[in-house]
Amino acid sequence: MYTEKELLSEAWTRLEASVLKFENEPIGTVAAAIDKSTQQFNYGHCFIRDFVPSALAFLTRGQGEIVANFLRQTLKLQINDKNIDEVRAHMDGVRPGMGLMPASFEIVEEEGKQAVRADFGERAIGRVTPVDSCLWWLILLRIYQRATGDQELVQEAGFQRGIRLILNLYMLKQFDMYPTLLVPEGAFMIDRRMGVYERPLEIQALFYAALLAADELLLPKNKQDIHTEIEQRLARLKTHIREHYWLDLEKVNEIHRYENEQFGEEICNKFNIYPESLEAWAIDWVPKEGGYLAGNLGPGRMDFRFFAIGNLMSVICSLADEAQSQKIMNLIGKRWIDLVGNMPMKLCFPAIEDKEWELITGCDPKNVSWSYHNGGSWPVLLWFLVAAALKVGRKSIAERGIRIAEKRWCEYKDKDRWPEYYDGRKGNLVGKKAMRYQTWTIAAYIVAKDLMENPQHLEWITFQ
Ligand code: GLC
Repeated sequence: MYTEKELLSEAWTRLEASVLKFENEPIGTVAAAIDKSTQQFNYGHCFIRDFVPSALAFLTRGQGEIVANFLRQTLKLQINDKNIDEVRAHMDGVRPGMGLMPASFEIVEEEGKQAVRADFGERAIGRVTPVDSCLWWLILLRIYQRATGDQELVQEAGFQRGIRLILNLYMLKQFDMYPTLLVPEGAFMIDRRMGVYERPLEIQALFYAALLAADELLLPKNKQDIHTEIEQRLARLKTHIREHYWLDLEKVNEIHRYENEQFGEEICNKFNIYPESLEAWAIDWVPKEGGYLAGNLGPGRMDFRFFAIGNLMSVICSLADEAQSQKIMNLIGKRWIDLVGNMPMKLCFPAIEDKEWELITGCDPKNVSWSYHNGGSWPVLLWFLVAAALKVGRKSIAERGIRIAEKRWCEYKDKDRWPEYYDGRKGNLVGKKAMRYQTWTIAAYIVAKDLMENPQHLEWITFQ
């Protein structure tokens, strides 16, 4: 049995051990510590999304250098007119979007010298595109600026150009009319086939936060031509999500009696959702005082699953309004066993099973029901849960989440070894294929503890 103090101190030791160095400078953290008993795949890489909680943890100690180095390094890897041909050569000749950022990078040796090698998905399992990387990068840039007070970095011409490239790429509409961002399957933290293509909530919440960040970080002279467009997109995106993704008892009632095949502008069932597609579990699951944002919305399709990052990020960046945010927290409180159980918390609820699992995941054994992305519990979500709860004045939920994780780890620290995820309906089992000493598990615990002690740090992350 460990004390909380010992647990936190070990977390720091492990986090420091995960630091990735390039030419003797710290530039990131590996996704998981090298463990010879497990196959490594790309867990020795530094992932953009995984680095965010690490960065937050370092910033609580005033260690901004590693974050600045990371931001600089990833900026160099961003697709620009100088490196595009080289990257293209590795992508079956396909021209990657200008401004795109990789999912991850690693340090390799080339001709006896260290080099940084990016992965845009051309080597990743399933060849998935990291749409979330640019979004997290912008969010992190704003976090860095707020936490360190360093205004110069973001004002450098290279950074301003990098922000503009991302905006050009993400604001461009090709074959679409919704204000949401249309993405392929597995484009974010859920980077495998899980039926999360089209307009997944997580991407929309990150997009919203990233647009706010970009507008804040661009110098007036660099956004003259785009500022109004950003504002309009933000407004339309906000209304769209708040109105059409929102699910509570009232909305479920509405969907139950939807009319279909409506044509024209002023209609109620704009996306032609069929009442028959309303999932039986969802009807009885939403408590009277709760609600949440649906996982996805497209023509004739509403994904009723609850996705934690999308909902919590929507609270954090105020994409959900105040009343909705409170209702999301109410839902988490009322459906605690389902959503949090014995390890905060479920990435998505409920799991898809049987035939549905076969069709949607393509029989993916890693994503069997109540495991990994399909209803598994991810300790990295602890920091999102704590930040969202604190932002809307629900400290008891934050405390309860931390207490549960701490209790488990103080008791089983050496057995669990900071796993990537847990399995089972209540998150009681260490994930079958879980990495150990997963960096964002460790960092999330540090960040969650810090936010409880220094709630003023919420300002780094939240948007009002
Ligand atoms: C898995 C996760 C992904 C994460 C990566 C590294 O691929 O699905 O979200 O970034 O591992 O931890």
